[in-house]
Amino acid sequence: MKKLGVNVDHIATVRQARKTNEPDPVSAISLIELAGADSIVMHLREDRRHTQDRDIELARKIVRTKLNMEMAPTQEMIKTALDIKPDIVTLVPERREELTTEGGLEVALNLESFKKYARLFHDADIIVSLFIDPDLDQVKAAHRAGADVIEISTARYSESKTRQELETNIQQIVNAVITAEKLKLGVAAGHGLTYINIEPLTRIDSITEYNIGHSIIARAVFTGIERAVREMKEKINVR
Ligand code: PXP
Repeated sequence: MKKLGVNVDHIATVRQARKTNEPDPVSAISLIELAGADSIVMHLREDRRHTQDRDIELARKIVRTKLNMEMAPTQEMIKTALDIKPDIVTLVPERREELTTEGGLEVALNLESFKKYARLFHDADIIVSLFIDPDLDQVKAAHRAGADVIEISTARYSESKTRQELETNIQQIVNAVITAEKLKLGVAAGHGLTYINIEPLTRIDSITEYNIGHSIIARAVFTGIERAVREMKEKINVR
């Protein structure tokens, strides 16, 4: 059974638009878990534009599946993560001016730093996932850094404009997955995945987890969160 991580930052985005207290992403967690999600993903950004410290602190108390904390590897965030103790830390690059995470980490050129981060989190019994583009050098570097899991960025895939582009992007993902599998890395995928574009990626057996936010929360506005999560869980396990 393939796993689904649901990113609840998008609920916090709606709340922060009014700087009020609703909708509360924490209130959604139990419903999302009841609907079949395998983990709850929260990205605590440096500028706190959506998820707040209070959200992730409360989430740590109530998540019954796994809490996956996405974060940039800054000193502040590393300290926060070591206090919160999520089950999984997903390291991502972060730029203030971006709308959302735009690309994968540059692990290969910063190998010593990533080795240090992996050691710090492993010492705290936290699983380490690195968000990288489907690039063989980055996959190998993630392995050398000591990551347990890679999350392959599907940003480029999801932005494919032509059949040819789509096929090239799928092939790059397949190549990255084959390399990761040989290196015994766990493989997740995420970013820009929807109920429609997920299908070709569900055929890649070694991708065992999908982390999805925007599309699920967008559907939930019309159908409710439980149905939206259930429908995505069905989609990723259709075969
Ligand atoms: N995985 C990572 C590493 C991300 O940064 C994001 C966006 O926060 C997601 C998955 C979810 O992306 P989307 O909201 O486009 O489904």
